[in-house]
Amino acid sequence: MNILLSSVGRRPYLVRWFQEALTANGLDGRVIAADLDPLSPARAFTEDFVTAPGVDSPRYQDWLRQLLTEREIDLAISINDFELSEWALLPRTEEWGPLVRLTSETQILVEDKHAMGVELDRLGIRNPATWLGGEIAQLSDSGVNYVTKGRFGSASRGLRYADTAGLKTAIKEATHEVTTRQGLPALDQQETKPENLVIFQEQIVGDEYGLDVVCDLHGRFAGVLARRKISMRSGETDRAESVNSSQFEDIARSIAEAVPHPGTCDVDVIVDADGHAYVIDINPRFGGGYPFSHLAGARIPNVYVAWIADLPVHEEWLRCDPGVIGGKLVEAVMVS
Ligand SMILES: Nc1ncnc2c1ncn2[C@@H]1O[C@H](COP(=O)(O)OP(=O)(O)O)[C@@H](O)[C@H]1O
Ligand SMILES: [Mg+2]
Repeated sequence: MNILLSSVGRRPYLVRWFQEALTANGLDGRVIAADLDPLSPARAFTEDFVTAPGVDSPRYQDWLRQLLTEREIDLAISINDFELSEWALLPRTEEWGPLVRLTSETQILVEDKHAMGVELDRLGIRNPATWLGGEIAQLSDSGVNYVTKGRFGSASRGLRYADTAGLKTAIKEATHEVTTRQGLPALDQQETKPENLVIFQEQIVGDEYGLDVVCDLHGRFAGVLARRKISMRSGETDRAESVNSSQFEDIARSIAEAVPHPGTCDVDVIVDADGHAYVIDINPRFGGGYPFSHLAGARIPNVYVAWIADLPVHEEWLRCDPGVIGGKLVEAVMVS
């Protein structure tokens, strides 16, 4: 079996874990890592490293098609939001078969935190009250605290905490931040009011958890993993503790319906003092929190490989031991 992991330059652990997944399933095969950066650390973890063109390059589609065919790829995974966005728009034909991706409708929905909030409300899934930046005038002073963030953002872009008095400034700063950084999806350009590229939400106070909502390759719910976030760094979980995920099973099942997806979907949840769980963010890919569940025993790469090869999935691959605390570290490897 040949597996392509795209945009994994700085996440070589995924390369290693998919190599281990082949072994765990008793299969021969190879893991090919691709990244835009030819000097990616992932290079040191596979003999099969490929330098990718930018997703906005006119060469991108041909490059991907050729790679999938020539290397006879059976499973292709990306962890980059812009690349996933492009994948979702590619035609649904055999030749793009192994791509793990959403339908274009679902992809457009998850990219827009405002639209996602409306959809979660419609389905009765608890999430913070959400407004567009341009809707600030509709608020009356209520002593509520707010959070701003990029409507199409990730990695904590545009994140500000503000009370009612400071909200206007926070929206202004967040708007500046999201409109001056590169990498906005094309959809953004259609929005005429720049402040509507930012949303603000009621601030939920409580413990934050990260989930992996895992569905099989046909989108059927398969399981959920959970960890309590202890600290974040550059918009990513930095320290976390694995927890029993049964308390999140109902939410996970509803997310599998709200956002039909193959494979794993990273979801942020905050549980308030009354025990109410609010869905904060949904990213349909391996997120920065998965390693903490892997450390605690989960083996999602094994599960993907078993599904593709039509082999049995061991139940324990979708479970974790609770109470395992993990921390990220910095390392350097020789890349050339
Ligand atoms: N409504 C909210 N209430 C409290 N904290 C929030 C809220 N929204 C976001 N946050 C905090 O900000 C972080 C980043 O926001 P998130 O919605 O996950 O955006 P991103 O796409 O940048 O990851 C979250 O992990 C959470 O800690
Ligand atoms: Mg997030």
